Amino acid sequence: MRHFTSVYDLPNLSEALNTAREIKNNPYGFQHLGRNKTIILIFFNASLRTRLSTQKAAMNLGMNTMVLNVNQDGWKMESELGVVMDGDKPEHMLEAIPVIGRYCDVIGVRAFASFESKEDDYSEKILNQFVQYAGVPVVSMEAATRHPLQSFADHITIEEYKTKARPRVVLSWAPHPRALPQAVPNSFVEWMRQTDYDLVVTHPEGYELDSRFMGDLKVEYNQDKAFEGADFIYAKNWSSCSAYGEILSRDMSWTVSSQKMALTNNAKFMHCLPVRRNMIVTDEVLDGSSSIVIDEAENRVYSAQTVLKMILEG
Ligand code: CP
Repeated sequence: MRHFTSVYDLPNLSEALNTAREIKNNPYGFQHLGRNKTIILIFFNASLRTRLSTQKAAMNLGMNTMVLNVNQDGWKMESELGVVMDGDKPEHMLEAIPVIGRYCDVIGVRAFASFESKEDDYSEKILNQFVQYAGVPVVSMEAATRHPLQSFADHITIEEYKTKARPRVVLSWAPHPRALPQAVPNSFVEWMRQTDYDLVVTHPEGYELDSRFMGDLKVEYNQDKAFEGADFIYAKNWSSCSAYGEILSRDMSWTVSSQKMALTNNAKFMHCLPVRRNMIVTDEVLDGSSSIVIDEAENRVYSAQTVLKMILEG
């Protein structure tokens, strides 16, 4: 595997899951792979889990890690081609990316949707410039339209907790005070569609995800109906894709509560974190025994380590 930007980059998903299990049982077993190798993690946006879990994954593999917070530590970067650089961005990505590539063996990059242009966001303008100009493998640490390391960790977590071969996995929109990107739900749906799970997506009207991620999956607009018999509830907010970046609803009846969870088949509660308490999910659910969000976050180490191992092995 050269780059990792979506589930489609994995040569074989079930083999990747087996590797993740093997790594989780023996995290330091592949340190020879990363000896004298360096990963640089580039952050255009804030992070807790992705930063620390990817660093930990790299260290477990014996790699050196460097982190650059572009908007705090580096020069502001221009991404437009052919632009007259008379603004506040002194460095162009056309130079910055290959320079970074000369200092390392792998680049991780986080660049969220800007919401300035749906076309730019959905063409993955920033991530694709890294892939094009880095000269070394690139790992997406959440881009404009996908968060594949998160989805991989979600998959590992569901495999650990499932009690039947084909669990009912429900992705539910939930309210949030700010407009969030669609990267996590897009990626989750895309990834889950590669499994044989019974996947259900529920959200208010107007929050339809892009068809390139949904495929022929139908939306269940009634959240209560979607929750019936669910084995996993994956809550997430996202802004509208059609009215791009807009908040169309703050309906608190979509908050995941104990009453909602009672409709399920003793479902486990999942969220990628950070999570807004008593907006997305009530304290009672998040602090209760059905919540597996901490295990889910721990598995970010093993999703990242699996991906890095595969890249180091070429
Ligand atoms: N889930 C996730 O990506 O968390 P961070 O934004 O803190 O990295």
